[in-house]
Amino acid sequence: MQRRAPRLRVLLHLLILVPALSEVPDHYASPRVGSGTRTGLSNSPAQEYLDPTYPVPRSPPGASTCVLPVLSYSFANTYGTPPAKAAYAPPAECPAPWSLVVLSFSVAIAGDQYDRVAAVWLDGAELLRTTTAEPTTDGVRWTIHKDVTRYSALLRSPRGGELSVMLENLVNDVYTGVYNVSVSLEFHGVPAYLGDAGSSSAAGSAEPGGQATLKLPASYFQPADLILPISEGMGSSNGFWFRIQNSSDPRSKLVRIPSNTYRAVLEVFVSPHSNDEFWYSNPPDLYIRENNLTTGRGNAAYREVVVSVDRHFAGSFVPFPVIYTGGINPLFWQPVAALGAFDLPTYDVELTPFLGILVDGKPHEIVLSVVDGIAEWLVDANLHLWLDPASTNVSAALSRYRTPRLSIKRRYSTRRPLDGKFKIRAKRKSQFSGWVKSSFGNFTTNVETELEVTSLVDFTSQGRNKTVRLQVEQDTEVVVRSSETRKAVGKVETEAKYPLWLEMVTEDGENDTYVMRANLTHSLSVETDAEAEGLFDGETRVVDEQAAAGWMLVRGHDVLDGSAATTQAYRYSNEAGRYERAIDTLDGAVLSDNVTESYRASGDGLAWLAAGPAGGGAMEL
Ligand SMILES: *[C@@H]1O[C@H](CO)[C@@H](O)[C@H](O)[C@H]1NC(C)=O
Ligand SMILES: *[C@@H]1O[C@H](CO)[C@@H](O)[C@H](O)[C@H]1NC(C)=O
Ligand SMILES: *[C@@H]1O[C@H](CO)[C@@H](O)[C@H](O)[C@H]1NC(C)=O
Ligand SMILES: *[C@@H]1O[C@H](CO)[C@@H](O)[C@H](O)[C@H]1NC(C)=O
Ligand SMILES: *[C@@H]1O[C@H](CO)[C@@H](O)[C@H](O)[C@H]1NC(C)=O
Ligand SMILES: *[C@@H]1O[C@H](CO)[C@@H](O)[C@H](O)[C@H]1NC(C)=O
Ligand SMILES: *[C@@H]1O[C@H](CO)[C@@H](O)[C@H](O)[C@H]1NC(C)=O
Ligand SMILES: *[C@@H]1O[C@H](CO)[C@@H](O)[C@H](O)[C@H]1NC(C)=O
Ligand SMILES: *[C@@H]1O[C@H](CO)[C@@H](O)[C@H](O)[C@H]1NC(C)=O
Repeated sequence: MQRRAPRLRVLLHLLILVPALSEVPDHYASPRVGSGTRTGLSNSPAQEYLDPTYPVPRSPPGASTCVLPVLSYSFANTYGTPPAKAAYAPPAECPAPWSLVVLSFSVAIAGDQYDRVAAVWLDGAELLRTTTAEPTTDGVRWTIHKDVTRYSALLRSPRGGELSVMLENLVNDVYTGVYNVSVSLEFHGVPAYLGDAGSSSAAGSAEPGGQATLKLPASYFQPADLILPISEGMGSSNGFWFRIQNSSDPRSKLVRIPSNTYRAVLEVFVSPHSNDEFWYSNPPDLYIRENNLTTGRGNAAYREVVVSVDRHFAGSFVPFPVIYTGGINPLFWQPVAALGAFDLPTYDVELTPFLGILVDGKPHEIVLSVVDGIAEWLVDANLHLWLDPASTNVSAALSRYRTPRLSIKRRYSTRRPLDGKFKIRAKRKSQFSGWVKSSFGNFTTNVETELEVTSLVDFTSQGRNKTVRLQVEQDTEVVVRSSETRKAVGKVETEAKYPLWLEMVTEDGENDTYVMRANLTHSLSVETDAEAEGLFDGETRVVDEQAAAGWMLVRGHDVLDGSAATTQAYRYSNEAGRYERAIDTLDGAVLSDNVTESYRASGDGLAWLAAGPAGGGAMEL
């Protein structure tokens, strides 16, 4: 696979450092016009880029369907300008409730440009966090489809809604690419034969003597009744996201929630940028100081996003390390984007145990912060709330709470010049429970989480060889019991794992160039086991893996030449069937693209309902 690299000058002056050495991995622009063999194919049609995921579920047969184009905008020199905006109102021909709503985010771009981060908000609540692919001269295009049914409460909102898209781009003589973006929504109604699914069968019964059969209402697992944005209110020229600068820069929003809320989940959106784009490979400050480096990419390789309610720690997660398409080696991500780059994972934190604090009708603070974070983290969240249809007040209390400790061990050793080995082990365990008495009954929710992380950043050969290993494991168990009988009526167990392994070797080339060879494997695996008495019982497994290897010749931040191969394997399975897609790419071309699927027949057309708890692609943490 590896082509021969240009002849290398033997480097005798060890003190003359490769300029970008301390900042590898880095962020690059893809091969430019007239530079090497890769751009030889002129006048080819724009290439379609992809990120294989589970295909958006089919709408149930007989459902009405409406496609609503919402926004089209060319993001040229948009740096520092407010988000693009468009009026939104749900389509009159396809009124709520919906069985399925799909957001499509399509992009076309040609020229030279860096990858950029973008987000879609509806009235300040985020619907999609994405990053863009880097274009080629011939142009590239792609479409992201996201199931946004869980945002029905926002999408239903009457006339006067506003959809915003932020994509800060810089256009000049060198970077010419303009991102053309269009956003549309596709609504699918609920056909008559499914009319009752969910809204009835609210099996909760708190009658005396009926307590033994107390069950969770189906509405518990359906899209929330109300979603409150936990975001920067204005959506001014800075966008709706909070821009977190460091670990002592928590951002918060005061919210007053309805006093009949019986369930609450906070869904967090997050993307690290600038000095923390590659946080999982950052050395400690000690190494930077000892070697007189000027890089800002320090603070070692552990980050954790923490959610608090007033002063209470309420949940946390280590974000999946998403690699944007200019990252490490941009040739890896042509035409398959890195895991999650087109639709960044979101993280669900179950806040139901904290309703005892939240339902008193007074404003409370939802706080987001980043442990060890450095500039900058774009973070915001949606607070999903389920409301009791039959009463104006629930009563609730937090019954078990102890602030969980983060146990973190760091072992750093350095050897000048530029060698060092940095190991971190971190653990956090938490358990919270609280009861909520609504018209459905008195239920106690117990949330237990366990987070374990090991990180290694190892520099050898005077920093020219670099190894990065990250292993994250996060397990969450949410159990809902009848407060009287203690019998479990619902349970969701989630195990998320994401290992990353990166090896890089940098060698000096001629004329201020260098050659970087890299091997990368990373994966995201999430296993969810969900059951609720009388409603569903099933397991879902997603494993998404990539392995990439290649080299590139770099000057500054521009890739002049190179070669890369990536294999991508996406596997999804649940009780209804399995779906797998495997793609091999080499130097920007797809060599093979294999899809295997099998579904268990289910004559009643209800198979699409068997998806389990609402929440879609989010990781419950
Ligand atoms: C982007 O939109 C502009 C204006 O409609 C158009 O001229 C241009 O060709 C589009 N670019 C791509 C890559 O489709
Ligand atoms: C953290 O960021 C905030 C907001 O930019 C700033 O005011 C504060 O000085 C920073 N703290 C440290 C320790 O850098
Ligand atoms: C860093 O700078 C100091 C003071 O200028 C110098 O004494 C030291 O040798 C330098 N260290 C390295 C690794 O270059
Ligand atoms: C609901 O709770 C609030 C705050 O505790 C209280 O002021 C109000 O009277 C209650 N309303 C009902 C109908 O119980
Ligand atoms: C650094 O990488 C080069 C090329 O793979 C290898 O030959 C060399 O042994 C490595 N050095 C160390 C110290 O591992
Ligand atoms: C709900 O159950 C909890 C735990 O058994 C109990 O302490 C609480 O008093 C109950 N609440 C109501 C309003 O009955
Ligand atoms: C390096 O630059 C010199 C002077 O500009 C040029 O003559 C030489 O061909 C260049 N070498 C390479 C490998 O590009
Ligand atoms: C990448 O993997 C190949 C095959 O295992 C190996 O020969 C090569 O040295 C590795 N490159 C780096 C930079 O680790
Ligand atoms: C796709 O299938 C072909 C034929 O079975 C096989 O040769 C190829 O390796 C497969 N590709 C991937 C990425 O699995």
